[in-house]
Amino acid sequence: MKPVSPSTRNDDRLPGTGKQADLVSREPQQTFDVARVRRDFPILKTIINGHPLTFLDSAASAQKPSCVLEALNVFYTGCYSNIHRGVYALSERATAAYEESRVKLRTLINAKETEEIIFLRGTTEAINLVANSFGQMAVGEGDEILISHMEHHSNIVPWQLLCERTGAKLMVVPIDDDGEFIFEEYEKLLGPRTKLVAVTHQSNSLGTVNPVKEITRRAHEEGAVVLIDGAQAIAHKKIDVRDIGCDFYAFSGHKMFGPTGVGVLYGRREILEKMPPWQGGGDMIRTVSFEGTTYADLPHKFEAGTPDIAGGIGLGTAVDYLSHLDLDLVGGYEHELLSYGEGLLGEFPEIRIIGRAKEKSAVISFVIDGIHPHDIGTILDKEGIAIRTGHHCTQPVMHRFGVPATARASIACYNTKEELDRLARGIRTVLEVFC
Ligand code: ALA
Repeated sequence: MKPVSPSTRNDDRLPGTGKQADLVSREPQQTFDVARVRRDFPILKTIINGHPLTFLDSAASAQKPSCVLEALNVFYTGCYSNIHRGVYALSERATAAYEESRVKLRTLINAKETEEIIFLRGTTEAINLVANSFGQMAVGEGDEILISHMEHHSNIVPWQLLCERTGAKLMVVPIDDDGEFIFEEYEKLLGPRTKLVAVTHQSNSLGTVNPVKEITRRAHEEGAVVLIDGAQAIAHKKIDVRDIGCDFYAFSGHKMFGPTGVGVLYGRREILEKMPPWQGGGDMIRTVSFEGTTYADLPHKFEAGTPDIAGGIGLGTAVDYLSHLDLDLVGGYEHELLSYGEGLLGEFPEIRIIGRAKEKSAVISFVIDGIHPHDIGTILDKEGIAIRTGHHCTQPVMHRFGVPATARASIACYNTKEELDRLARGIRTVLEVFC
């Protein structure tokens, strides 16, 4: 991609002019070409502690391709203004670009209607919206909310808060020693009092990919509503919310190569229409008087205040980027990397991999007896290798496996086998230092 300096930029490159496609203009790939993908991510050339950066922490937050960075720059330098408010050209352009992103997101997840895409700060805010708004509307004393043992804190705590407010009960589907969702136990827990099932599509600390379509089907048979936490899955596989059949699907922009501070709640129109607003302010109203207020139509009813406009526009470019990569090719390549990485780590008798589900993606969590994960992470960092260590906001998972924390190497489409070789060499150093 050619850099565009503000002085040479013309109107055609500005968001909202319908000409943004040239930010991601190349042909779709036929086979996965990781060298080409890596060229799109300038940060991957960074040197850390004298070594080339080996970034294995994309489950926490993914790096950004040049086209997303450029989209932000083009927006801020060439057409920045607030949206949904101005009658002037700049504001109309910004509004058009922002709303164009919403359409791209609808296409990405195959939602039926663009109004079913709510822009929020991220997955956490999306789940909190449902817990507050749907919770206020539909959950009462004695009702049950069903989650799984592998949930991120953001898919646990909002439900606990709801249960505290309403007297509803939180039920937890257990996981087995491989980190798999135990479907038979789920079926036993489902019942006439189950109001909502909230489950992750892909575990951030184990890598387990859950059978969300089947989970949704069974919940619907009991009359329960289903929310899927898609924070981890969204960058690794094609998501089709209509095929899954879920009522809500939540995800974050920053994990799918988009900017931080922006994310999406997909909700089925039929349910969103019935739900009350959860935050009040500008943009979410139709009329306001001291006697009372009427609310805007979807999606704006749930979008109070000035949103992360640049983030939304950058996220649209990230969607273009992901679509050009072809998520089927990405999934196949990452699966190869995962098997390769697990094979390398499996050669160390000292290492125990936590999370061995048959359906697994992008995450290798591991422990080494006698060495704290933070020490593993610190030594790897000296070799330019970035991994996450700790409980990964899944303390119940740590308790389930009897460990305080794990070291977690997570994979994105820009990683390579050579980087996993570097990880294995780094672990050898860790063992030399401590054993
Ligand atoms: N949820 C993010 C992670 O898994 C931050 O690291």
